[in-house]
Parts: sequence; structure tokens; C-alpha cells
Amino acid sequence: MRVLETVEAVRAAVKNAKLKEQEVGLVPTMGFLHDGHLSLMKRARMENELVVVSIFVNPTQFGPNEDLESYPRDLAADLAKCESVGVDIVFTPSVSEMYPTGYSTYVNAEGNITKTLCGASREGHFKGVTSVVTKLFHIVAPTRAYFGQKDAQQVAVIQKMVRDLNYDLEIVPCEIVREADGLAMSSRNTYLSETQRKEALVLSQSLKIAKQAIDQGTKEASAVIEIMKKHIETAPSATVDYIQIVDARSLEDLDIIRGEVLIAMAVRIGKTRLIDNMRFIVV
Ligand code: PAJ
Repeated sequence: MRVLETVEAVRAAVKNAKLKEQEVGLVPTMGFLHDGHLSLMKRARMENELVVVSIFVNPTQFGPNEDLESYPRDLAADLAKCESVGVDIVFTPSVSEMYPTGYSTYVNAEGNITKTLCGASREGHFKGVTSVVTKLFHIVAPTRAYFGQKDAQQVAVIQKMVRDLNYDLEIVPCEIVREADGLAMSSRNTYLSETQRKEALVLSQSLKIAKQAIDQGTKEASAVIEIMKKHIETAPSATVDYIQIVDARSLEDLDIIRGEVLIAMAVRIGKTRLIDNMRFIVV
């Protein structure tokens, strides 16, 4: 496994692979890797000859009052995990390598898709994501890029960007990986105290309760959201940022739950903002 810090070095390595007509899989991450990230890498390993993982805590996707400074980092552990799943290249650029002085070009998907859900409370977040992902796509020129459904809106936004701007690559969405008790794995789970870790279960539990209610015939989105809120309120340290039931592709709100549905939520447990979601088809 090679650890490369510059755009030039990654370009050279990928060029070599492409000369041999090898397929390239890219897994973009912000590090502090867990089994969710590793599931993407394992899938990329199965489907490509060259696997590139990027580890970069991207400042442009954090708001001024967000956790950029305190975002957890452990490069040594991350590299060992990448090595253990057979990654070929880890790209670990510095902030100045990605955003040199005078940097000023951004890619932004406009409209509801970036304004709804997390976009409503994280102004500019998706502009930072689409910009850095564009840069990674240009640097690595992957055949396929792997993203987790844990960040369902991120997948929808990137798929839209790829369609709108004719990127020549395949986006591969991957299932959410959960802890044994249902909590969706996240680098931010490390912020939770022992009590908060238990209370954080209300997110995945409320999704299960919602699915049961829908299966039993409740089809009004507002009624299902109410049931979820009631359950989340049983955790003293939980405050709901949003719970929405949307069309899984366009992310437009649904009044009646039908078709390809995404139930998505962000809930604060104490100061830690956690997200979770469930995607399914209702006929
Ligand atoms: P990060 O939060 O590090 O996540 C990297 C990738 O791992 C994302 O595609 C995310 O959806 C996926 N992932 C995280 N937790 C997961 C889980 N429990 N199950 C499955 N997949 C999971 O998302 C980002 O970084 C950044 O926004 C990035 C795309 C790298 C751009 O900076």
C-alpha cells in the first residue's frame, strides 16, 4: 500500500494503472475509519484492480460553528485499517494541497436537493462536498466511486451532479453498516458519553417503528413523523433537528407515503448531531 500526499503523485500512480487498462475504484473519506468505511473499501476491492482511498477532513463542508477543529483524527490507525482490506493507494493531502492560497472555484447543485434535510441546517455543506468530490474525481479519474447510504442526501446530490455535469464514472451506493444494537456507525459516535450512546438508539428505533406503522397502513407522512418524534422524545438528551419523509431520488417531501421513499432524520444527542435514514418501496 502506498500513502501519497500530493495530487501529482496520485495522478502518476493512476496514470500507470490506466495504461494497463485497469479499473480504478475511489472511496472518499474524512478518516477516523470504522466498519462502515471499510465496507465501501471491501466492495471497491472486489470490483476494481486499483483501489484508492482518500482521507481528507474537508474544511469547505463544515460551517463556522461546526466541528472542523474537533473532528476525530487517527491517521496511523486509519492506514492500518486500509492496509487490512487491501487498499492500494491512500491519498492524504494537506489542506493547502487541496486549497492553495487564492483558491476560488466551487461546484454547487442548486435547488431543493441541497436545501432540504441536512441542507436546511448546514448552509453551504453540500457545496463543500460537491466541490471536494469533484476535485477527487478529477485527481483520481475513477471508474467507480463508492458512497454510503448513511449519508443518503450526499449520495442523491452526488448522483445528480454526475448526471448534470456528465462525469464519466459510476456512483456505487453502499448499505448502511450498523452496530449490533442498531446505531448507524459514524466517526461522530465517538463524541457520545456512555449514557448518550444508549439514548442514541432512539434514531434507529424510531425508523423501525415508522416502518411498522407504514406496513400496518399509516400512509400520511405527518402521522408517521409524529410517531417518530414521540419515540425520540423519550430520550432526555435528544432534540430533533429534522425528520422528513421524501421521495428517495428527488428528495421532495411526500404527504402520502408511496413509491421509493426515504425517511431521513438528524437528531442532536446532547451536542452531537447524528443522522440516520431508511429507504424502501411502498406500492
Ligand atoms: P465520511 O463521513 O468520512 O464518510 C465517508 C464515506 O463513508 C461516505 O460515503 C459515508 O456515507 C460512508 N459511511 C459513513 N458511515 C457509514 C456507515 N455506517 N455505513 C455505510 N457507509 C458509511 O462523507 C464524507 O466522509 C465526506 O462528506 C466526503 C464524501 C469524504 C467528502 O468530504
